[in-house]
Amino acid sequence: MASEFKHFLRQSSIPDKFDEKTTEVRGFIQSQIQNNRRVVVVTSGGTKVPLESKTVRYLDNFSVGSRGSTSTEYFHKEGYAVIFLHRKGSLRPYQRHLTHQNFLDILQVNPETTPNIPRVSVKPQYENDIIKTLSIYKSIREQNMLCEIEFQTLSEYLQLLHICSLALEEVGNKGLMYLAAAVSDFYIPKEEMPQHKIQSSSGPLQISLQLVPKMLSPLVKEWAPSVFVVSFKLETDKSILVSKAKSALNNYKHQVVVANLLETRKKEVILVTKDSEEVIQLTDTDINNGKEIEEIIVQQLKTKHNQFCS
Ligand code: PMT
Repeated sequence: MASEFKHFLRQSSIPDKFDEKTTEVRGFIQSQIQNNRRVVVVTSGGTKVPLESKTVRYLDNFSVGSRGSTSTEYFHKEGYAVIFLHRKGSLRPYQRHLTHQNFLDILQVNPETTPNIPRVSVKPQYENDIIKTLSIYKSIREQNMLCEIEFQTLSEYLQLLHICSLALEEVGNKGLMYLAAAVSDFYIPKEEMPQHKIQSSSGPLQISLQLVPKMLSPLVKEWAPSVFVVSFKLETDKSILVSKAKSALNNYKHQVVVANLLETRKKEVILVTKDSEEVIQLTDTDINNGKEIEEIIVQQLKTKHNQFCS
């Protein structure tokens, strides 16, 4: 499996600004080692699979990055520094609280004649929300506890995950890998991909997709063998969810699978380990009161990570 993965990486094109991103990730990890902090790599959002080399069309999936961006904030609350490996344009920690507003509607233009008042300011009704989010965000930035790295395609994601894993291994068992991104299982190898836009004049489209090698295997065995690895299992059929999670643990020998169903993922997950299954559930009242399931997921994982470290 590891050699399949090496082959996949070799035939993939190098991501944009790969060297800068590698340097940024390594520098961030070194700074966390100096501060004796725990570090988590959170992956978030969906991977895009191009159908043409000069890409006009691609395959995508539903993930908007809620799980990853929300979890990042709770990891910060628990004292972890976070490398947030996310799909460009998906939800980002802290900023996510403001995405339901059009930011132009939050601002107002003040009359030029009023002294000591800036020409543009936040409308009074939004001030409290913005101050609350902004002050936490600024403090996280000042403490250098967030490194945001973007990907778009499947191949970018896997190559960046590779370098993040190698860097995380430097932290040893204080490292945690939290694989919440929705990663495509299928792709078109570079040598089979048409260069130009596929023409509709050629008739109905038939595409043949190859299986992406599971990166969990080399990640656990070779790239980051000392870190605490949490993968996710997404299904739509409840009857197979836990058995699929168990078989992932059995195959890859990592520590935890967070099992979730597409429709109920915001209010129920099951934390599956080698010898336990723990259901985490929110009620509708919890959700209406603003409770987020990621808070409990992260707290429970921290407890398991503590046990792993000791
Ligand atoms: O972003 P949101 O809209 O909030 O949605 C959150 C989520 C539903 C996407 C998230 O909670 C989730 O379940 N993420 C994992 C989705 C997924 O890829 O599931 P899977 O069953 O296809 O893969 C299982 C595991 O295998 C994943 O941890 C994945 O990282 C890993 N994998 C996948 C493909 C691949 N080639 N190699 C892998 O190792």
